[in-house]
Amino acid sequence: MIYEHPLAYVLGLHGVALLRAYTGEHDREFVEARIAEIRRLLDDESLKAAGVAVSRVDTVDGYRVWSSSYDEPRNAMFDFEEPTVREILDTLPTGTVLDAACGTGRYAEYAVELGHRVLGVDSSPDMLEHARRRVSAAEFRLGDLHRLPLADGEADIVVCALALTHVRDLTPVLAEFARVLRPGGHLVLSDVHHDSVFFGSIPPVLGPNGEPGRLPAYRHQPGDYLRAALPHGLQVRRCEEPRLEPSQVSVDRGDGEPEPWSAVSVEPWHHWPWSLTRLAPEAATAARAGTSATIIWHFQLGAGGNSEGSAS
Ligand SMILES: C[S@@+](CC[C@H](N)C(=O)[O-])C[C@H]1O[C@@H](n2cnc3c(N)ncnc32)[C@H](O)[C@@H]1O
Repeated sequence: MIYEHPLAYVLGLHGVALLRAYTGEHDREFVEARIAEIRRLLDDESLKAAGVAVSRVDTVDGYRVWSSSYDEPRNAMFDFEEPTVREILDTLPTGTVLDAACGTGRYAEYAVELGHRVLGVDSSPDMLEHARRRVSAAEFRLGDLHRLPLADGEADIVVCALALTHVRDLTPVLAEFARVLRPGGHLVLSDVHHDSVFFGSIPPVLGPNGEPGRLPAYRHQPGDYLRAALPHGLQVRRCEEPRLEPSQVSVDRGDGEPEPWSAVSVEPWHHWPWSLTRLAPEAATAARAGTSATIIWHFQLGAGGNSEGSAS
């Protein structure tokens, strides 16, 4: 069980903001205001019993629930990776594209528009059902990223968006991507940035009776992708970690004042942790400044294929 306590979250934000002040990003006034705010939060009796026990839900169960609302409203995370992923895909010659962990077929649809033959694979039958309705020109197969239902060298391009955060160890998955790519083929990845997971970007799932749950989410650092990719002959063509703009991390309502727990707690749990930032807007804004929401990679398999890296 995960224990999510609003105080843990906002004290954590204060901690990060204070570390940043300690290394010179903020002045004495900021530090004293944060320490005073921490005292106020610790003395707030109304917050004491606000903790919630949350289960870890596996991806098949979790996406069964999320599939019905995945496309509506549009996931804000798409804005932080889609322009770059499309920019990369737009430069690649047409061929066979695998949309790995395709979900409801967002990139399968785009790849069809670009003129590719498109296969989509996902471990969630519910997400695939939406994908099949959305992209009739693509073929969709139930399957896992660790054992893709494709022959060796079948794909010219593999695209895998916002899914690797659910995978504990990238190595076997990157090995699968290299196996199904033809020599010289392209791998385009986007993932939730480790900064973003750190600040709580972990999809919530409500059980049948409203029980709080969260999907698995791992914090992969850039070196983790490299250590998983390079031994399989995948060579780096591009890596982007777009930084959030100040306006994208600001939780200031205008007056900079924290809201009381009585106002924040009327919002449902599944809006945590973002609604909790209103308890400590200045600390939240300072903690997240300049961090990234996504990481985007473009790899290309060497001409020697996936044995190239391991041979060395
Ligand atoms: C956030 S969604 C992303 C969907 C789509 N790629 C997109 O960007 O819109 C993550 C998807 O990864 C799938 N997924 C997670 N772990 C997987 C695994 N081990 N094998 C196959 N699919 C997986 C989930 O079922 C879900 O559809």
